[in-house]
Amino acid sequence: MNFSIFGNPIEHSLSPKLHYFFAKQFHLEIDYQKCLVPLNQFKKTVDAFRKNGGRGANITLPFKKEAFHYTDQHTLAAKETHTVNTFIFKNDLCIGDNTDGIGFIRHLKRLNFNIKDQKILIIGAGGAVQGILGEIIREKPKKIVLLNRTVQKAKDLIDFFCPKFPIEIFSKEEEFDLIINATTMNFDEFTLKFNLSNTLCYDLNYGNRHFTFFQWARLHKAKQISDGLGMLIEQGAESFYQWFGKRPNHAIPNWSV
Ligand code: ATR
Repeated sequence: MNFSIFGNPIEHSLSPKLHYFFAKQFHLEIDYQKCLVPLNQFKKTVDAFRKNGGRGANITLPFKKEAFHYTDQHTLAAKETHTVNTFIFKNDLCIGDNTDGIGFIRHLKRLNFNIKDQKILIIGAGGAVQGILGEIIREKPKKIVLLNRTVQKAKDLIDFFCPKFPIEIFSKEEEFDLIINATTMNFDEFTLKFNLSNTLCYDLNYGNRHFTFFQWARLHKAKQISDGLGMLIEQGAESFYQWFGKRPNHAIPNWSV
């Protein structure tokens, strides 16, 4: 059974390792490969993969929006966010889902954090934020504030989700229960002084890229800090469920990322 993850860059991806780990639990024989997709060849690459018997795929940067447009049928999560990170190929149909939001919420719950009635600051306004905002809103937070280098991008995102929730643009330093770093670069220019003693600081990235965000969070004595590895595992488990109807065990051995 052929599976793939499409992205650019893709070398860093842990998805093959994750899905082999899940498949082993059910004695399933799968072949899951990383596929580096040239920036202008997403459709061509996915078409060829399907022709060769591809059963399902994950999609990562920078193709999640393009994947939404490629898809024939969308799940609610994909429809709500206009992004897709999971393809399910059934007969001649491509069904698109986005499991990032549910993966994020499930990891937060594992960290004993419930979004309901909480104040959230999101730093960044790219595709990663778009992909999880639908699910965050569904959990009924008290307040969502966006802070982004390019303010217009934050405003566009606010317009996109506007009828569902009144997201605000960052204007003042205040106490937040959850601060999410969704920027793809280091946090060098971020010098705001927050009281983080009651705050969970969560980085959607995993690996070394969260270093300066973590430094900042530690400097301001954050109550709790997490990277996005748990979210990666949860979103992968949900993709796996979409393909096989089976829920894998998450007890992942300590992975170096
Ligand atoms: P993703 O799909 O992972 O969200 P993206 O759409 O490229 O990736 O978004 C990257 C985010 O990181 C954006 O919020 C971007 O800010 P801009 O909208 O201003 O581009 C943010 N980002 C990237 N490099 C940054 C930097 N050096 N300083 C601050 N923010 C940065």
